[in-house]
Amino acid sequence: MTHPAATTRTFPHGFTFGSATASYQVEGAVAEDGRTPSIWDTFSATPGKVLGGDTGEVACDQYHRYREDVALMRDLRLGAYRFSVAWPRITPHVTPDALGPVEQRGLDHYSALVDELLAAGIAPAVTLYHWDLPQALEDAGGWADRRTAERFAEYAAVVAEALGDRVRTFITLNEPWCAAYLGYAAGVHAPGRTEPAAALAAVHHLNLAHGLAARAVREAAPGAQVALTLNLAWVRPEDEASEADVDAARRIDGLQNRVFLDPVLRGTYPADVLADTASVTDWSFVHDGDLDVVAQPLDAIGLNYYSPTVVRSVTSPRATVARPGADGHGAGAASPWVGSSHLVQFVDLPGPRTEMDWAIDPRGMTELLLRLHAEAPGVQLQVTENGAAFPDAVGEDGVVHDDDRTAYLQAHLAAVLDAVVAGADVRAYFVWSLLDNFEWAYGYSKRFGVVHVDYGTQVRTPKDSARWFARLAASGEVPG
Ligand code: FCB
Repeated sequence: MTHPAATTRTFPHGFTFGSATASYQVEGAVAEDGRTPSIWDTFSATPGKVLGGDTGEVACDQYHRYREDVALMRDLRLGAYRFSVAWPRITPHVTPDALGPVEQRGLDHYSALVDELLAAGIAPAVTLYHWDLPQALEDAGGWADRRTAERFAEYAAVVAEALGDRVRTFITLNEPWCAAYLGYAAGVHAPGRTEPAAALAAVHHLNLAHGLAARAVREAAPGAQVALTLNLAWVRPEDEASEADVDAARRIDGLQNRVFLDPVLRGTYPADVLADTASVTDWSFVHDGDLDVVAQPLDAIGLNYYSPTVVRSVTSPRATVARPGADGHGAGAASPWVGSSHLVQFVDLPGPRTEMDWAIDPRGMTELLLRLHAEAPGVQLQVTENGAAFPDAVGEDGVVHDDDRTAYLQAHLAAVLDAVVAGADVRAYFVWSLLDNFEWAYGYSKRFGVVHVDYGTQVRTPKDSARWFARLAASGEVPG
């Protein structure tokens, strides 16, 4: 079905334009109102893990400045705000075996944020897990331990019960690929482990956590939409005529895309991924009945897309002395590509790049949305993140003239529109990010915001891209 009202330049009526952030990246206030440490507090306090020794201790201070930030979004005419809830604020004394008492002050904070948003006409979209796992759970095994999934579902029920009367969208997990492989195999994200078998156990327990939480949210907030956000890769072989390159692409597609999509949409793990990783683990952490739980009906899938992926086989005549492998968020000595790192190389694409060194190709946005449309018919799609870091300079007029970011957003929004016109049921687009913020292992060195943050004074200044995005949000038209 195509959207009759969509044209190549105008989004269908009712399409939502919003912005996104995540708790550890913007909140600060890490020791306030009963919050206990998350794995990102521990990781960022470990020397050498985050560029410049930066931490999320203060970040954008949104915990205190949320009213100002909501007013900013209202001025920018944004229709929705995707934020995440910090688990260590809600049940700060969770253990692997018991959720522990609920911290009312944590719930009150998010409840006040939701009310502030609704009063400003902005729809809240709540992510339940954007990587800030309570440290106590990591101490007992983290996502490699099945009990983390069970506790997560209980925590999800607490949040859904408290906010479900006002929040229409709950996203269980953000990018389980990063949480599992960057956290447990590459070690470039918290908790910084380099244990390939633990990473695959984490993949499964995150899938299980999604399924258990989806069920819990439905029960606690029957009217709400349940979604999952994935960072799928638009992966292509360097040489389509090369069987070895095609096989390299199959491996990466398996590890990044199908190991999440297949269990969630179809209740199975892809046989080729199980075979590719057989020397690492026997997958015995998948228990009878788990896959039925993982394959809960979904209302929406969130796609986070930033950059294309092209791979080759190490046997390719074009093979080079390779970088450890495209992991997106910083390269360590270990690879995130469990079971395939010795066989696959990531191709440095020519052409424009962002400050993350991520190649730019908006076609991946269209392709992935159409793939999701084909694989998950009847499930709504949302672009829950898209955006770019560029070396912004504040001009003499005090403003950031970020034409590069505006061009990136324009090209990717046009690519979303292409998917809509081709029939994909895309309902929303959230720019990453509202604010410059703590960019994980890169600390404050990479600025993704459409709003500039002066970290010394916490002054927020909309960049030119924010004004551009506001015009789009108001008109639905992708300006030329
Ligand atoms: C995504 C993360 C988000 C942000 C962007 C740049 O992978 O979900 O928190 O870091 O990348």
